[in-house]
Amino acid sequence: MLGRELVPVLRAAGAAVTAADRATLDITDPAAVAGAVAGHDIVVNTAAWTDVDAAEADEPAATVVNGDAVAGLARACAGAGAVLVQLSTDYVFPGTATAPYPEGAPTDPANAYGRSKLAGERAVREVLPGTGYVVRTAWLYGRHGRNFVTTVLRLAGQRETLDVVDDQHGQPTWARALARQLAGLGAAALAGTAPAGFYHGTAAGQTSWYGLARAVFAGAGLDPDRIRPTSSAAFPRPARRPGYSVLGHDRWAAAGVPVQPAWHAQLAEALEGGSLAA
Ligand SMILES: NC(=O)c1ccc[n+]([C@@H]2O[C@H](COP(=O)([O-])OP(=O)(O)OC[C@H]3O[C@@H](n4cnc5c(N)ncnc54)[C@H](OP(=O)(O)O)[C@@H]3O)[C@@H](O)[C@H]2O)c1
Repeated sequence: MLGRELVPVLRAAGAAVTAADRATLDITDPAAVAGAVAGHDIVVNTAAWTDVDAAEADEPAATVVNGDAVAGLARACAGAGAVLVQLSTDYVFPGTATAPYPEGAPTDPANAYGRSKLAGERAVREVLPGTGYVVRTAWLYGRHGRNFVTTVLRLAGQRETLDVVDDQHGQPTWARALARQLAGLGAAALAGTAPAGFYHGTAAGQTSWYGLARAVFAGAGLDPDRIRPTSSAAFPRPARRPGYSVLGHDRWAAAGVPVQPAWHAQLAEALEGGSLAA
């Protein structure tokens, strides 16, 4: 989802981009990774094991992709003298806070996926202390891949009412808004004006899944009262979901890169432009 939004955004900004997908580059293959990284100034890793519930059943396999492969990628970047931007997740935090998690807040992952992503974060910071960037995102939606917003739009045509959880809070983030922010961070990193380390790549503001579903309906010209609030207990899942996934954005100022627009403004732009149509 993110990778396919990022490539055109970077090209439009004038970057010469080599786009790799799973068919052309398995990130768990160190020799292939070293070959792919060579000759590049900056690498953005949007590949990951992203099936959160499946990670609960097979954490070692998730860690091979989200931890070990990221360590290999970091070593390849160190060898090639390339900057690395690694995507991570709000799930490295326990999700029990009541105020936004700052970039330096202690981690304590909510589930196996969070632990596997934390292994990747640590590898980047250990191998590339001066040129490794970790951008944590959350609640992503976009045109490509399965996500909450396009699922709600699809279900709107199939069901009269939708029950949506109102006890998980986060920052719905349009993949293209994150792509734009990553383009800004990449430029600043190459210019030497962005300190390495942690950044939080999520929309400003916060809402619940219920609030987001209502906004999607309203934005699509549908009656938001067709959305009904419910609790997480109504939808038991293998992996625990944090109740509070709101991330702070203070560190962008140090890099001279703007924070993302508010989640509702991002959603309005995504819906207006038809940018979520498959
Ligand atoms: N989506 C969210 O809400 C969210 C929230 C927090 C953080 N993130 C993070 O944001 C980043 C982008 O997420 P996304 O939603 O764009 O993920 P996505 O749509 O699931 O894309 C991940 C891609 O990685 C590929 N991949 C998996 N294993 C690979 C391997 N060994 N070698 C090469 N490619 C491999 C997958 O290929 P297959 O499809 O063939 O498996 C898939 O195309 C990830 O780091 C993710 O952890 C996402």
